[in-house]
Amino acid sequence: MYSSSIFEGNLDNFSDKEPQRAPIGVFDSGVGGLTVLRQIYKQLPNESIIYFGDTAHLPYGIRSQAEILQYVREILVWMQQQRVKMVIMACNTSSALALENVRQEFSFPILGVILPGAKAAVQQGKRIGVIATPATAKSNAYRQAIVEIQPDVQVWQVSCPEFVPLIEQNRINDPYTLEVARSYLEPLIKQEIDTLVYGCTHYPHLAPVLRSLLPAQVKLVDPAVHVVAACTQELDLLTIRNTHLPMPTRFAVSGCPQQFAQSGLQWLGYTPLVEQVFLTDATVS
Ligand code: DGL
Repeated sequence: MYSSSIFEGNLDNFSDKEPQRAPIGVFDSGVGGLTVLRQIYKQLPNESIIYFGDTAHLPYGIRSQAEILQYVREILVWMQQQRVKMVIMACNTSSALALENVRQEFSFPILGVILPGAKAAVQQGKRIGVIATPATAKSNAYRQAIVEIQPDVQVWQVSCPEFVPLIEQNRINDPYTLEVARSYLEPLIKQEIDTLVYGCTHYPHLAPVLRSLLPAQVKLVDPAVHVVAACTQELDLLTIRNTHLPMPTRFAVSGCPQQFAQSGLQWLGYTPLVEQVFLTDATVS
């Protein structure tokens, strides 16, 4: 966990009288970030949330760094316009490819999922498997973060290009998904991993499938749990935790709102009201 704030700016975005009441922005390419949103509901029930799903550009995991950077900047500019007090990148691909580039460009703290996930993983085991999107796996972000914290652990990363489309199509219980998962996990099981990190926020939606294939002793690390713990600590350090009742979560997507609302029912247990937002090219001053 962070012992001091990750935020080096001043919160000059907040001319608001009560910055505590400002929402936290959460974004992902699609429904993956809902695994982070569920953790926020558990750990930070008083916070108001604006959730953005960049479904028009899904999946992020097969895109170039330049594309990801452009999408992330557009989303953050929009979040700034919504007067958020903090943003959680509920997306490993953006956290791996864009976080360090954009962090200094905005006047609010931005948290990514990789460092909290890596910190949690080294506390669990010494033979760590990471399943991730092609872009995250190729970036080596998890290996670097893990080895920097704990040089004597071994890390194996597997790129899983088929998972996000299958999850977005809600094909969790499809026999094909089980076979795809089996092929992705096989090399990790052969290496006798003791810990598996969900290196994509979509993957906890596959928990029952993955658990059915993994040896019982393998521990699963969900970075969503740990990024929300880091967020709690950051809110406390900056004394901007909300103690009042939250506003209802606001959902916005760049693609089809109805489709997202339907998936929302599956993962949140209620049908969210979803608006469509068109983001324009980000010019960051
Ligand atoms: N859920 C995101 C991640 O954690 C993005 C997945 C995608 O769109 O490929 O990487």
